[in-house]
Amino acid sequence: MTDERPLTQNALPEDDPLDFTLRPQCLDDFVGQDKLKKNLKIFIQAAQKRKEPLDHALFSAPPGLGKTTLAHIIAKELNVGLRQTSGPVLERVGDLAAILTSLKEGDVFFIDEIHRLNHAVEEALYPAMEDFALDIIIGQGPSAKTIKLPLPRFTLVGATTRAGLLTGPLRERFGIIANLEYYDEADLASIVIRSSRLLNAPIEPEAAREVAHRSRGTPRIANRLLRRVRDFADVETGGRVTHAVSRRGLDALEVDHLGLDPIDRKILTVLITKFAGGPVGADTVAVAVSEQRDTLEDVYEPYLIKAGFMARTPRGRVVTPLAYEHLGYPLPAAPTQTTFFGQ
Ligand SMILES: Nc1ncnc2c1ncn2[C@@H]1O[C@H](COP(=O)(O)OP(=O)(O)OP(=O)(O)O)[C@@H](O)[C@H]1O
Ligand SMILES: [Mg+2]
Repeated sequence: MTDERPLTQNALPEDDPLDFTLRPQCLDDFVGQDKLKKNLKIFIQAAQKRKEPLDHALFSAPPGLGKTTLAHIIAKELNVGLRQTSGPVLERVGDLAAILTSLKEGDVFFIDEIHRLNHAVEEALYPAMEDFALDIIIGQGPSAKTIKLPLPRFTLVGATTRAGLLTGPLRERFGIIANLEYYDEADLASIVIRSSRLLNAPIEPEAAREVAHRSRGTPRIANRLLRRVRDFADVETGGRVTHAVSRRGLDALEVDHLGLDPIDRKILTVLITKFAGGPVGADTVAVAVSEQRDTLEDVYEPYLIKAGFMARTPRGRVVTPLAYEHLGYPLPAAPTQTTFFGQ
């Protein structure tokens, strides 16, 4: 089964419909990631000049950094159609063939969670990406024949939160490979200001910075926090998002001054109080905090690691002294790292 919902219904469960008003529609509205944006502009212009489809592109990044947004922007900038599906949804080669044969020349075919394609579908994708053809097997046994079904030339855009899980052969077939970085505070503040304009919610610059500061480097979180803070402003200050109301709102949401939410703090607390700071395996941590291992690894850990609260080591997760300090626990007499590396 493929995902054939119209563009406006492709929301993630946590994205409310408002997100579509907030989603940038062209590269110039896409904030940050400057190097990537500059390169993409050139690649898009060059493809248009040559009247060729854009090379296949792979975007990897933790959730909410703009992979889906970029896929849609690429189609818009190229002025072509976009078909969207995701790795686990493409169950059979037939599902893939049905989409590929319905594409128009130059269209963008977006596969989200591309690291979760099954083996058969991935194998079928190789010649489609390389030669714009599908190898179809007709019949069975000795009389079986393979025929090549030509396809319109298209651009595959793949998105993944786990670049490391992509197979080598699939990765090599992408001409453009980009890693989106967490956003810095200035970029996030621009995103918050842009979104508040679109939401008709006047915001003080300090309030925008406050929301940006607590957004874990992630535009989706910045927009979500802005919407909640706006609720507080509507009720308390007649709609104006002042610095004070933004702080009250964010505190009420239990997002702390470094952007950690209750689950982030639970992960670090469990590591400190139950496992003496680690090292401890990901499965054990996941059970201890009642989260899926995938969610732990894709959603929570990347930021906790990037912000310096924990580290992944070959023997498991360890917390850093910064985590002890932030959560107000005394550092153990022998730091966990020393115990760990000393063995
Ligand atoms: N660079 C950006 N500038 C402005 N807004 C952005 C930017 N990147 C993302 N956003 C906002 O954040 C939201 C989430 O982005 P998006 O859905 O593209 O993330 P994603 O990387 O596809 O996440 P996931 O891995 O969960 O699918 C978008 O709807 C958009 O409003
Ligand atoms: Mg996405």
